[in-house]
Amino acid sequence: MHYTDMSSLALYTENLVYTYPNGVQALRGVSVEIPDKTCTFILGRNGSGKTTFLLCITGLLRGSGIVRVYGRDPWREFNETRKLIGLVLQDPDDQLFNLTVYDEIAYTLRSMHVPEEEVRRRVTLISKQLCIEDLLDRPIVNLSFGEKKKVAIASVLVYKPRIIILDEPTLGIDPASREELYRLLRDLKREYTVIVTTHDIELAAELADLVYIFDKGQAVAAGPPEEILTDIKLLERCSLRPPIITQLFLKARIDIERPPIRLEEAANMLSRILGEAQSYLFKNARSPT
Ligand SMILES: Nc1ncnc2c1ncn2[C@@H]1O[C@H](COP(=O)(O)OP(=O)(O)OP(=O)(O)O)[C@@H](O)[C@H]1O
Ligand SMILES: [Mg+2]
Repeated sequence: MHYTDMSSLALYTENLVYTYPNGVQALRGVSVEIPDKTCTFILGRNGSGKTTFLLCITGLLRGSGIVRVYGRDPWREFNETRKLIGLVLQDPDDQLFNLTVYDEIAYTLRSMHVPEEEVRRRVTLISKQLCIEDLLDRPIVNLSFGEKKKVAIASVLVYKPRIIILDEPTLGIDPASREELYRLLRDLKREYTVIVTTHDIELAAELADLVYIFDKGQAVAAGPPEEILTDIKLLERCSLRPPIITQLFLKARIDIERPPIRLEEAANMLSRILGEAQSYLFKNARSPT
């Protein structure tokens, strides 16, 4: 898939290279094409360049090569691009700097000179959506890690960017919050272009429309999750593992064209296989040869 019209893409990068001042070459020519309204997961081992990539496409780090966000260049048109992209960092403490939750969520709207009444309306709406309305008057320093993560997400959603980027959203949260986050992402992907970096392969299997694999500062593979997450050789090469349900089907050597990546898909496959086995046994029991 190659797009000639970059503005029809949410994100286009070509040969993106970034070297940190200490000489570490974190990105060695990354080329990606992410269509509008897709949910893309970027997977890769520690240090493969995922976070550096996100910082470059939001214009916070400046490398070489081409980056276009809905056709805009974040290095030349930082303010225009900033409105299009909402980045939720891996560690909320790197992102939250206001005194109270309310001020934090309101911050970007105020910096865009949105009238205070509209700010109040949007902050209230988004905090209800994320079930954090009880936290609005609380000082940020007193919040738990999971609560801070939600505030960081709210502070980005509130200004309605076109792309929502989440760096390692499930890191450090409990199973109930992970379930909430899963539901939130499922809703977000209907409305926004969503880009997620994660080590949570199950989350990618559940939600991704498109998966990129990063390795040693390069995007080494891209495709639908059904294809990428069952490519055992590719995953091994990049020190990644397929989803647990895929591993189960591979270990059990169940004879199918492609192992499933999701629980529901696996359950359907198993009941079909069991159904076929049952009718085979039934047929052979009635008409022995
Ligand atoms: N501020 C920095 N200064 C120097 N080198 C850095 C800096 N930040 C990251 N690096 C290096 O750049 C490379 C890519 O790091 P990056 O944080 O982008 O990886 P990542 O894929 O996000 O890893 P993780 O899965 O651990 O979050 C690594 O070798 C890392 O050590
Ligand atoms: Mg990272």
